[in-house]
Amino acid sequence: MKITVDEKQQVFLLHTENTTYGMAVVDGRFLEHLYYGGRLEDTDIRYLLRTDEAPLVPSQNKRETGAFLDCAPMEYPETGMGDYRESALCVRSIAGHRASELAYAGYEVMEGKPKLPGLPATWGSQADSSTLKIFLKDQLLGLKVTLLYSVFAGSDAVVRSVLAENEGKEPVYIEKILSACLDMDDQDFQVMGLFGSWARERHIQRMPLGYGRQNISSFKGESSHQEHPFMALVTPETTQETGRVYAMNFVYSGNFLAQAEKNQFDSVRMLMGIHPEGFCWKLEPGAQFTAPEVVMVYSGEGLGKMTRTFHDLYRTHLIRSPYLHQKRPILINNWEATYFDFDETKLLDIAREAAELGIEMLVMDDGWFGKRSSDDSSLGDWFVNEEKLKGGLNDLVEKVKALGLKFGIWIEPEMISPDSELYRKHPDWAIQIPGRDITQSRAQYVLDLSRDEVVDGVYQMIADVLRSADISYVKWDMNRQLTTMGSYALPADRQGELFHRYMLGVYRMQERLITDFPDILLENCSGGGARFDAGMLYYSPQIWCSDDTDAIERLEIQEGTALVYPVSAMGAHVSVCPNHAMGRTTPFETRGDVALLGTFGYELDITKLSPQEKELVKEQVARYHQYNDLIREGDYYRLGSVRENGIYDSWMIVDKDKSRALLFYVQVRRRVNVKSRFVRLKGLDPEKNYAAKECRFAGESGTASEWIPADKTVYSGRALMEAGMRLASAYGDFRSRLVEFTQE
Ligand code: GLA
Repeated sequence: MKITVDEKQQVFLLHTENTTYGMAVVDGRFLEHLYYGGRLEDTDIRYLLRTDEAPLVPSQNKRETGAFLDCAPMEYPETGMGDYRESALCVRSIAGHRASELAYAGYEVMEGKPKLPGLPATWGSQADSSTLKIFLKDQLLGLKVTLLYSVFAGSDAVVRSVLAENEGKEPVYIEKILSACLDMDDQDFQVMGLFGSWARERHIQRMPLGYGRQNISSFKGESSHQEHPFMALVTPETTQETGRVYAMNFVYSGNFLAQAEKNQFDSVRMLMGIHPEGFCWKLEPGAQFTAPEVVMVYSGEGLGKMTRTFHDLYRTHLIRSPYLHQKRPILINNWEATYFDFDETKLLDIAREAAELGIEMLVMDDGWFGKRSSDDSSLGDWFVNEEKLKGGLNDLVEKVKALGLKFGIWIEPEMISPDSELYRKHPDWAIQIPGRDITQSRAQYVLDLSRDEVVDGVYQMIADVLRSADISYVKWDMNRQLTTMGSYALPADRQGELFHRYMLGVYRMQERLITDFPDILLENCSGGGARFDAGMLYYSPQIWCSDDTDAIERLEIQEGTALVYPVSAMGAHVSVCPNHAMGRTTPFETRGDVALLGTFGYELDITKLSPQEKELVKEQVARYHQYNDLIREGDYYRLGSVRENGIYDSWMIVDKDKSRALLFYVQVRRRVNVKSRFVRLKGLDPEKNYAAKECRFAGESGTASEWIPADKTVYSGRALMEAGMRLASAYGDFRSRLVEFTQE
């Protein structure tokens, strides 16, 4: 990592291990984007600015500045002066004018990485990170904008954020302040994004980028099930190993806009930031606003390299939890086992059986508080429902602990049921527009977390619960989107701040929780995986991936999620069949293998499993203990995707020193007469030899030699990667297998 500034040429370069990001000042005033791609060091690249081509330098082109602004690659484009592509910044003066002209005003390079006040962000020490700040100023508005860029030792990521400060005498209104912009020549780009729905989150989609604007966004108040704060522009030949990839991921959990725009000059602008819809921030003289961080990754070696860059960055510079590098307790959650219909006896029955099979923690899900026995009441009443838990919470927890299990609990602190004591006491605490009905969703309203007294009031109730018993884990849920945006605490000209202030309130509450209860393992969740994002990873090392626990559906959900996020963060459980979301039946073994690529746990009525299934639970528990260190800390490689081939899904985890690896293979559909398949492995050392061992469940049909060749157990890494590992076809659909490779 290195930041170089050529003061004479006014060129700024950020170098990561394998990439360079560059900017330059033109005519002493305009900050332009210069280059992003493979590493270029000690090279004069100012020629990339095309300053001999009119109208690319305003002072030379004898034409209007507007023509220049509309085609030059701008580093941080603004509204109102002639750049008609999507802007990154739109500011309204109190006179009502919408225009700004930011001129270059200096720079600073510092060791380390500054914190972003109140926001999740990557972190780094003075030894392993450096930051470039570029200052821009609009004289008329008195607005100072600082663009921040940080790089990290050993990483190919560049992270960016923006700080706006009002140095003028009058307030200004920020109507749009995106966090990152990237202007480039088109390279026949395709757009990749993650799309879905409830129980079908983060499916990968790739589509051509045509002229016009293509965006991925949410203004639901959360990062959402449907679209995701990630976008990559990829060249057409891009595979896991080849092609150029420019990716952006937002470290934020609220409204977002990610957009690619191809214009008349065959140039492309890629943008990411808080969605301007419903956003307007009043900046008083002396006040500051920080736009959240965007992580940018360039890979010249395809998607796999991009993925591993995100994973490593998030495991070393984003997730803070002490549990990050620990094997998490194997949990059993009662949601799919009982839904709301449980009491102490039922929970203890589950716990007793779970303990016998090696499960380590019971998580009590929704329904334990207020008078809640369905989803139409009690959110906000964070005290125990003593009809269900007659002896109270501590009594239950102690009984569970006596069985040898830890105890975890579900909460949904951001919400309030109209039928709750809290709502009857504080009806103004719900987000609402006076005079208008509040939209209900899952029979609940959203709390106005822009207000400190609401954050404090709810937090106190939750903290009291957590102090009242020995609780090891919290599942923090969020089960609806935001509507009828209005706050009793904000004046009319600040109502446009509510979406963002709400997020700041959520972050404040989560920060308090992990500070006051540092030993609690926090898992975020939002109606399944609607808030699986980099913002949440700053607070919790794991996030519930999806309410769809079907092993085959999970292949695509987990593939899309792991495109960006470390597998150690993916909440994944084994549940019963027919699967509750899908009605599909898959082998118990496959359900376990797919859940191994994540935090691993169970979500079923374990008292109802057959003796054979209980034996399988014991073996799956053993597999988890055997392989979780490798899976959690290793490098992730995709070998095949059922999304593309329609037949099988396969991935690998390789440890950092390439001495051990685990191959996962799921035969989604059997093909008669295809006796075996060679799967080319990745990430191994071509010079090393590896012993292969199939992990099999006792009593599984077929012999080992039917699955992997019995006469050959040691393979060269080179042969495994060039020619492949032979895997015999299994009898039946949805069959999975695991092969472990150990350096000889
Ligand atoms: C959400 C979660 C589920 C469960 C329910 C409880 O849908 O994703 O896992 O906790 O809420 O209401």
